[in-house]
Amino acid sequence: MINKEKLLEISKKYGTPLYIYDGDLIKEQYSKLKKNLIYSKTKIFYAMKANYNPSILKLLKEEGASIDAVSPGDVLLALEVGFEKENILFTANRITEEEMHLVKSKGVLFNIGSIYDLESFGKNYPNSEVCIRFNPMVVAGENDQVITGGENSKFGIFIDEKEKVLEICEEYGLKIVGVHEHTGSGIPEAVQMMEGVKNILDFLNKEDFPDLRFVDFGGGFKVPYKPEEKEMDLEKFGKETSHLFEEFCKKFGKELEMYFEPGKFLVSESGHLLVKVVDIKRTPKKLLAGVNSGFPQLIRPMFYRAYHEIDNLSNTNNEKKKYDIVGNICESGDCFAWDRELPEIREGDLLDIRNAGAYCYAMGGQYNLRPMPPEVLVLEGKVELIRKGLTTEEMIEKIIEESKT
Ligand code: LLP
Repeated sequence: MINKEKLLEISKKYGTPLYIYDGDLIKEQYSKLKKNLIYSKTKIFYAMKANYNPSILKLLKEEGASIDAVSPGDVLLALEVGFEKENILFTANRITEEEMHLVKSKGVLFNIGSIYDLESFGKNYPNSEVCIRFNPMVVAGENDQVITGGENSKFGIFIDEKEKVLEICEEYGLKIVGVHEHTGSGIPEAVQMMEGVKNILDFLNKEDFPDLRFVDFGGGFKVPYKPEEKEMDLEKFGKETSHLFEEFCKKFGKELEMYFEPGKFLVSESGHLLVKVVDIKRTPKKLLAGVNSGFPQLIRPMFYRAYHEIDNLSNTNNEKKKYDIVGNICESGDCFAWDRELPEIREGDLLDIRNAGAYCYAMGGQYNLRPMPPEVLVLEGKVELIRKGLTTEEMIEKIIEESKT
């Protein structure tokens, strides 16, 4: 684990704002998952949408991970980093025909979650192998925006449309080699994940799916964001799913593979965004600590009202005051935390925004024209700059260059 001193030391070298990732923790999370999912034919597909830094992708590749890709960009980057096409599953969300051709030309397996896309895939690529994404009809996840199951979801084919799926596959000679579901993100209880697993296994049989090789149960494993929160009970989930899957395979008559697609679980806790306090303001009701970063660099609090633990690295006294931690963007909503009790914050203090490894840099942008921070990886005691940030001048140069037609 990277301690406070290490964070301070690294920030001295690279400045702030700065993303720092703990590579050893990523490895630890990976092996924890692997250890608990005891079914022998389990494969882990890292949901690279959570954090696509090439060094992190390489690290997970070395651990043995495969890739869950959700865009042609994901697929191209994963291939570029060295993942083999057989170890990438492309979950196609509302793709255009051009995107379909691009990914298909790379030989990557498609996971298709709509009747419409399936039909169009069949027309374009008859006699191909395909994975079908079904809606698990379980409503679970950290907040409304990351719930993907249930009757109002834009994702997945409804289980009762199975016949239609089989018809289309028959018509175009598509072979269903995989079945997929994803319930949501940040699912707290193993029992909710289990429900999705059961709903999918319940309707699968060898007559309808003779070519089936794997069942993919998506991601969603919760990790703690607040100090009092707990990780999902992995041991229980791992045991129960593995047992259930084994029994299912016996009934099905074939030893299938079991896939999972974790994002947050592998990388969330590894990440820190270090920011510097640049001003303190007292309003009639509140204390505001203003920092040299804003929501384009870490949007989860503003976007989902997500809680990210924040430490004042420069003052660890026990006497606490309540602050809103506000950003440097020209919007009132630009805030990292509201009414947060922290040891007194003074100008120049360094704050550590925790759980910044998943969906933070990856959801970033340069709104208000501030470049994204650099990224640093700490692995086995080695500190490595894994993405240099652009300077303001370089960013502007790039914008001008890109706008030349
Ligand atoms: N598989 C599929 C098909 C997914 O859509 C997702 C996440 C995952 C796997 C990985 O889920 P995870 O293990 O990371 O929970 N930006 C949001 C999370 C969006 C998740 C989208 N899909 C956030 O910051 O909370």
